[in-house]
Amino acid sequence: MDVTFLLNGESVELRDVSPTVTLLDWLREERGLTGTKEGCNEGDCGACTVMVTDARGSKGLNACILFLPQLEGCAVRTVEGISGPDGALHPVQEAMVKHHGSQCGFCTPGFVVQMAMAHKNGDSGHDDALAGNLCRCTGYAPIVRAAEAAADAPVPDWMGDAADGPAPITLDALAEAYAATPDATLIAGATDVGLWVTKNMFDPSDVIFLNRCAELQEITVTDETVHFGAGVTMDRVMETVRDLHPDYAEMIRRYGSAQVRAAATIGGNIANGSPIGDNPPALIALGATLHLRKGADVREMPLEDFFLEYGKQDRAPGELVTGVSFPRQADRLKVYKLSKRFDQDISAVCGAFNIARSDGKVSDARIAFGGMAGVPKRASAVEEALIGQAWTEETVRSAMARMAEDFTPLSDMRASADYRLQTAENMLLRVWLEDQGATTSVLKVSA
Ligand SMILES: Cc1cc2nc3c(=O)[nH]c(=O)nc-3n(C[C@H](O)[C@H](O)[C@H](O)COP(=O)(O)OP(=O)(O)OC[C@H]3O[C@@H](n4cnc5c(N)ncnc54)[C@H](O)[C@@H]3O)c2cc1C
Ligand code: FES
Ligand code: FES
Repeated sequence: MDVTFLLNGESVELRDVSPTVTLLDWLREERGLTGTKEGCNEGDCGACTVMVTDARGSKGLNACILFLPQLEGCAVRTVEGISGPDGALHPVQEAMVKHHGSQCGFCTPGFVVQMAMAHKNGDSGHDDALAGNLCRCTGYAPIVRAAEAAADAPVPDWMGDAADGPAPITLDALAEAYAATPDATLIAGATDVGLWVTKNMFDPSDVIFLNRCAELQEITVTDETVHFGAGVTMDRVMETVRDLHPDYAEMIRRYGSAQVRAAATIGGNIANGSPIGDNPPALIALGATLHLRKGADVREMPLEDFFLEYGKQDRAPGELVTGVSFPRQADRLKVYKLSKRFDQDISAVCGAFNIARSDGKVSDARIAFGGMAGVPKRASAVEEALIGQAWTEETVRSAMARMAEDFTPLSDMRASADYRLQTAENMLLRVWLEDQGATTSVLKVSA
């Protein structure tokens, strides 16, 4: 594949690159730019963070799970391009020195790039911005102090990359190409596929990059519907649902890290069929519809019907997910993500509750869980036990007892089956308690 992009302000044109060469490997091995570090090689530590600018602006991404063709038409800035051409330090670098933000220094390039990106975007939520950058020795307080200290300094001229992003391919052309080559691997944000390559040595013969299709990146919010194109990244989903369904947005704040949310797409999170993907429970509870297309043929289905069994989805060869939509509705959505760490962790259980009440009774209930079965799944027996009943603790407790009819969870490294079942039941009680105004969380960290 041919790829053209800007690297630290200079044009790079590559011919016939393998589509699954990661930016990290290419920077270090082909360009000798070894400032960008390899820690985990799976998107978890942020040591490889680079700044990528396209038509939407600048974001920090993990270079270890970023394939070169994803950079077509973009501008990349590595740590070598964060200081000025004459060697002048960027304000975040000066602040890191002044505030003793570095000890062994291994994590420092990744922190500096992510801080410079947040500084450029005027983002003062330092804890969230840096949650995907791990430091083993300095500790985070001096680093956050450095970010705060640099906040008011002007953005240096050399950081002003402009880039239009890739020359777009239409959805018609994309759908036709995939229908004609159904064995091709679709690559959206590569936060899954990247790991297949770096950890499992996956070497696909044919790939199709979805970030080149502008129609898949569209978000449409009308009085009736909210629609996300399959290629919309999780940071954009979070911003869109923040006012509509704040609990959903709050859950996404704990989805991977800023770098992962800037790459991962809502379509990839559904299409991969993961039983622990964090979007499906919330979307199913909101009554979402999934949109698919093969060639010129389009179809749609309730999202819950897409997940047939573990590893199997209702998607034909050559058929792509084009988007997901849900009806506009009064916000009643509660989403609880239970994981061992607050930040940057996969759910053990994720529960979403959309329970409508009228005249003291439950008029409707849509409840869905991830982590409780081989697929994201509705809690039908629990819903049935609630609908039409008085919204009381007694009703809630008898509905909790029905959870075992809906789910026989597994034990794994994240949680035991008993723990999963009990916490899922308790999440329903939590909905009721919060509705009574009770304080339910001693652990929920708010920044
Ligand atoms: C460090 C890290 C942290 C993570 N944390 C979380 C987390 O907290 N919660 C969570 O749910 N997930 C998490 N993930 C998993 C991952 O981010 C998600 O599953 C992600 O949404 C996948 O989207 P993507 O665009 O990166 O997909 P890709 O990796 O590009 O693709 C994933 C799969 O979906 C297919 N695909 C992609 N788009 C389409 C489409 N439009 N139509 C048909 N098939 C398609 C691909 O062919 C592939 O099989 C994490 C991953 C990493 C690396
Ligand atoms: S090396 Fe750890 S996130 Fe890339
Ligand atoms: S300074 Fe050593 S890992 Fe951060």
